[in-house]
Amino acid sequence: MADKVEKTFKFVIVGGGIAGVTCVEQLSSQIPSAEVALITAGPHIKAVTNYKQVSKMLEEFDVEERPASVLEEKFPNLTVIHSAVKSLHTQSHSVETADGRIFGYEKLCICSGGRPKLLTQENPYVLGIRDTDSAQEFQKRLSKAKRIVVVGNGGIALELVYEVEGCEVIWAVKDKAIGNTFFDAGAAQFLIPSLEAEKPERAAPCKRPRYTTEEPAAGASHTFTADRNMQGRSSGPTEPGSALGPDWHEGIALHGAEQVSRRVSVEYQCEVEKIFTSEELLNSQQQTLRPENVGSWPVYIQLTNGKTFGCDFIVSATGVVPNAEPFLYGNNFALADDGGLQVDDHMMTSEPDVYAAGDVCTACWEHSPLWQQMRLWTQARQMGWYAGRCMVADILSEPIELDFCFELFSHITKFFNYKVVLLGKFNGQGLGPDHELLVRCTKGQEYVKVVLSGGRMVGAVLIGETDLEETFENLILNQMDLTPYGEELLNPNVDIEDYFD
Ligand SMILES: Cc1cc2nc3c(=O)[nH]c(=O)nc-3n(C[C@H](O)[C@H](O)[C@H](O)COP(=O)(O)OP(=O)(O)OC[C@H]3O[C@@H](n4cnc5c(N)ncnc54)[C@H](O)[C@@H]3O)c2cc1C
Ligand SMILES: *[C@@H]1O[C@H](CO)[C@@H](O)[C@H](O)[C@H]1NC(C)=O
Repeated sequence: MADKVEKTFKFVIVGGGIAGVTCVEQLSSQIPSAEVALITAGPHIKAVTNYKQVSKMLEEFDVEERPASVLEEKFPNLTVIHSAVKSLHTQSHSVETADGRIFGYEKLCICSGGRPKLLTQENPYVLGIRDTDSAQEFQKRLSKAKRIVVVGNGGIALELVYEVEGCEVIWAVKDKAIGNTFFDAGAAQFLIPSLEAEKPERAAPCKRPRYTTEEPAAGASHTFTADRNMQGRSSGPTEPGSALGPDWHEGIALHGAEQVSRRVSVEYQCEVEKIFTSEELLNSQQQTLRPENVGSWPVYIQLTNGKTFGCDFIVSATGVVPNAEPFLYGNNFALADDGGLQVDDHMMTSEPDVYAAGDVCTACWEHSPLWQQMRLWTQARQMGWYAGRCMVADILSEPIELDFCFELFSHITKFFNYKVVLLGKFNGQGLGPDHELLVRCTKGQEYVKVVLSGGRMVGAVLIGETDLEETFENLILNQMDLTPYGEELLNPNVDIEDYFD
């Protein structure tokens, strides 16, 4: 095979999402003379903009799609190759792309992200949302829809049900409360009224979801067209783009076919039993449906709670599957239970000279007791950045320690128009029964929850403008014994910052 290698690079990074791009930037700025290749399936790359360090651990940024040429201009020794990696040969240190080219590497970093877990394969009435194209497809289908069913209880489902207007939404969640990945039942209770209220007008101007250029990039195969058929699949080959991120729905109106505002009903503790078409429904002995419903919807969904709903389409928002497959054949990667490539505290996989970062990998080092992996923007950026530094350190035979950002889980986001800050073991993840919760809640204003273990703060959920994030972050990091303060800790009339600063 070696004779067919077109070119060998010092570093090859696969994937133009946040993890891959951050890794490339790190490598190219640390060793400007190194030849770096970014191989990515989609025509655009993701760029972090307006990066802001909110506190020691919390960070906020926007994400923009850009043509890859922007990166190449910034880093002259970087080559962007627009093709998907089809296979990896760890023995010969080379990758083969879908267009039949072979590139060698000294060190490789796989940042191929994930794709939506779909309820069923190849059903035209089941949509997943991952990238700009699938979001646009969703918007288009929604504009003609009267009722949709959203299945899933993570961040994407939460945002969807809040943003969709002019269309009835049936929301099927497998848990007892909404937003189980992020919240406990109390926080869910706090948020539920927002689903019934009118959405406040957005003052902020819409961001452009995608940076567009007149000329398509060489080798690009961006196939979204205005008349993509209603079957939900494009006619040409679609390369997977990178995942959307914060504010993905800004700039795309999520409006259904009807003149009503938000209408959401939640079906708790149920999963999907079966999905069928109207013909299939008529042919089966389906008795649970009211007769006037039969035949009037293109698709039907039967839930495990026995209810059946007809709808225009179903959104599958049940999480992501790491995009590891193309790299597995012929190699010996250790895979985690969630299908991710296992990485150690140097972001190294089980194969020599192969690293991984972002949604495709599973952090298998011994975690700090206050950190957990979640497939989020911030972690994709942190892992890409740290992987780049580890690759350089390994090339230079320098030691490197696990970065501080993996000490404490921290995430800042917005749900239902509330600011949401999550710190540490915010849901008591993995804690024994001896942990304690302190909660303070003002309806419509704020929800504050503190998780204590052995008298020390190990996690917090802050919803609303609580202004507590820095203080709590410090209390979690310094693991001070808070037993003497008891419930005073959340007394709104006590300025706790005075206690601790
Ligand atoms: C709708 C939606 C909303 C989200 N909202 C939020 C949010 O509000 N906050 C938050 O923190 N996170 C959010 N996330 C999660 C976040 O987007 C991801 O965690 C993050 O983007 C992961 O980055 P990544 O670089 O690992 O992967 P990706 O962004 O998925 O990038 C993967 C890249 O690899 C390329 N690729 C894939 N396979 C191959 C191959 N075989 N060869 C070459 N290239 C390949 C793809 O084209 C892509 O460029 C959201 C995700 C979705 C889908
Ligand atoms: C690119 O690499 C070459 C040698 O590999 C080096 O001479 C040159 O300075 C590098 N370019 C930049 C901008 O660093």
